[in-house]
Amino acid sequence: MKGREFAFRKWHSLLGVIPVGVFLLEHLVVNNFATGGAESFNKAAHFMELLPFRMFLETFVIFLPLLYHAVYGLYIAFTAKNNVTSYTYFRNWMFMLQRVTGVITLIYISWHVWETRIQAALGQKVDYEMMHNILDNPAMFAFYAIGVVSTVFHFSNGLWSFCISWGITVTPRSQRIATYVTMVIFLALAVMGVSTLFAFVNPQLANM
Ligand code: HEM
Repeated sequence: MKGREFAFRKWHSLLGVIPVGVFLLEHLVVNNFATGGAESFNKAAHFMELLPFRMFLETFVIFLPLLYHAVYGLYIAFTAKNNVTSYTYFRNWMFMLQRVTGVITLIYISWHVWETRIQAALGQKVDYEMMHNILDNPAMFAFYAIGVVSTVFHFSNGLWSFCISWGITVTPRSQRIATYVTMVIFLALAVMGVSTLFAFVNPQLANM
């Protein structure tokens, strides 16, 4: 890998976790307040809206890092050769799924941002009721469920390769342990994300 490409890859890897991954975690936690009812969600979401320098933070901490990660991610997804010989069968699947979920995540996030953040900028009130109206449509609910599960899989499985990229897991044993840890993270975030979606349409199910 040439020097410049190596640096591009390192930035791509780092930005996927800091700040984009950190934002994803924060976003999942705030939205999960919906399991406590409409008022609880509206309060949590409203608090985020009141953060000082909101536009600045959104642009430099979320939008630009995500844009870089997504654009370079598309380049990697459509140009990188699959590394069939040096990894196990399972890891080749994960390698492929990382790319597929990257593309699904991009489609999902683009739609989600259009439907929520851009509508808010255009003067719409984004609250529990708005999310209820979106998710009440079974097709949209399925789209959101696929999008959320894809995003959290991409993030969790990404943590596994991130740990290798940054020299955190070097030995085969530590990489095997990281597989279990990242899959537990995936399951926990997927349950949390999908229960949040249910909280907007069927609160009893979300609190089971
Ligand atoms: C919430 C949004 C996203 C998060 C939190 C996220 C997070 C991550 C993380 C942590 C990694 C692992 C980095 C590493 O291997 O060192 C990664 C890798 C990757 N991401 Fe994302 N990502 C997101 C969105 C996207 C999007 C929209 C794309 C566009 C296609 C994308 C494409 C990729 C690709 C192709 C890789 C594999 C890189 C490699 O194997 O070298 N990601 N992502």
